[in-house]
Amino acid sequence: MNPASTDISSAAVSAPASLAAWRARLEQRELQVGIIGLGYVGLPLALLFSAERFRVVGFDIDARKVEKLNAGQSYIYRIEPEHIQAAQKSGLRATSDFSEIASVDAVLICVPTPLSEHRTPDMSYIVSTMEKIAPHLRAGQLVVLESTTYPGTTVEVVVPAIENAGNVLAVREPEQVGVYVAFSPEREDPGNTRVARKDIPKVIGGLDAVATEMAAGLYNSIFNRVVRVSSPAAAEMTKLLENIYRCVNIALVNELKLLCLRMGLDIWEIIDAAATKPFGFQAFYPGPGLGGHCIPIDPFYLSWKAKEYDFSTRFIELAGEVNEAMPYHVLQSVMTALNRERKSLRGSKVLVLGVAYKKDVDDLRESPALTIIEMLQHEGAAVSYNDPFFAHVGHGRRYSLNMDSTPLNRVPEFDCVLIVTDHTAYDYKKIVAEAQLVVDSRNATRGIDSPKIARC
Ligand SMILES: NC(=O)c1ccc[n+]([C@@H]2O[C@H](COP(=O)([O-])OP(=O)(O)OC[C@H]3O[C@@H](n4cnc5c(N)ncnc54)[C@H](O)[C@@H]3O)[C@@H](O)[C@H]2O)c1
Repeated sequence: MNPASTDISSAAVSAPASLAAWRARLEQRELQVGIIGLGYVGLPLALLFSAERFRVVGFDIDARKVEKLNAGQSYIYRIEPEHIQAAQKSGLRATSDFSEIASVDAVLICVPTPLSEHRTPDMSYIVSTMEKIAPHLRAGQLVVLESTTYPGTTVEVVVPAIENAGNVLAVREPEQVGVYVAFSPEREDPGNTRVARKDIPKVIGGLDAVATEMAAGLYNSIFNRVVRVSSPAAAEMTKLLENIYRCVNIALVNELKLLCLRMGLDIWEIIDAAATKPFGFQAFYPGPGLGGHCIPIDPFYLSWKAKEYDFSTRFIELAGEVNEAMPYHVLQSVMTALNRERKSLRGSKVLVLGVAYKKDVDDLRESPALTIIEMLQHEGAAVSYNDPFFAHVGHGRRYSLNMDSTPLNRVPEFDCVLIVTDHTAYDYKKIVAEAQLVVDSRNATRGIDSPKIARC
């Protein structure tokens, strides 16, 4: 069992001449940036580089995305087509032809890192990306992995793929110009309008000092601050620490919410009061369960890797247990609320409000709403949903619903309206006024006083 930062991360600093040339070309905006994976992370990143007058080539295996981008259209709700068209004027274009990798200077990899069915890291996207790009790499290029992953991935997966294709890694031959490699985690927070993307510092860990400086120079042209760490593994672990911190704290407030409900206390009022402390407390909020591509998934990348070191990550396991129980709590709360109305869940009509994993985003990945809908259906409820971001919900890796969004004017028809995602667009006062019963898992109805509301 080798430490995650193997011998190559501490190797000598290579070819400073190549760094000087890199900086000069960076300054002149002569560097071409290649972005692999044009999803929620890769597309905004491409637009940031375009806005700074870099020529950007986006690579994706999804022909539909490539076509749309090249036609100046958007496929992500919060990205306007005008933004893409402006980037096209700076040279942005998309392709599925990976031989074009040879023409770019920096290759930034933003492909998915989900969990497999057995909750182990699914590295297939990174592996297949490396297989596609490695034969086209050339000396002097910088390769940066941005996908969230376990400490050791860059050295154990990316580096061998580059070398096995016959490329010389700069860190191995300090006298030559080779391929430079770094890891830099993505810290994008979709839907966050408080912090501009350029104000989120970019953490960078290169295989050697030159790779770190090349990446730092590149990212500094789009982010206000870069933070250098000693190795790719340190950068990989930084991202996991951030998301595990979030996952564990959400589990803590979820557990305390269950206790508060039993004690007749309002957890939301208590969190708001605690958040007035100017130090030592950061507010996290309870909910119907974890969702999204990061928080429910990333911690398990680390617990999987920790096993290699005979280490059990107990906080992660416990947080997972608490958070995964939340959809069951929501189900129970709907049953209890209906019971008070002398109704059983079986045969009741339930309208789920919001299926996106969090408010105001068009992203369904790992959404607790999908699990809750399936649980309600399993118990015999007639379930419908409404979501302004999804006119239809079909099939995914873990769900198969095939439902259309129900218009809100049908709220009065339902025995229960269940708020799972608190989109801003909803008029909660109106919904409460028209509904027979409201179960609120997000405290979206705060400030509304009605016996029809059951907060859970
Ligand atoms: N979405 C977020 O908010 C967020 C935030 C921080 C970090 N991350 C991390 O960033 C990474 C990417 O996440 P995302 O949300 O952008 O995923 P996404 O699914 O939105 O986008 C990934 C894109 O990669 C493409 N792709 C898959 N395999 C490919 C290949 N071999 N070659 C080229 N393209 C390929 C897909 O077609 C897709 O367009 C993940 O590791 C994720 O954990 C995501």
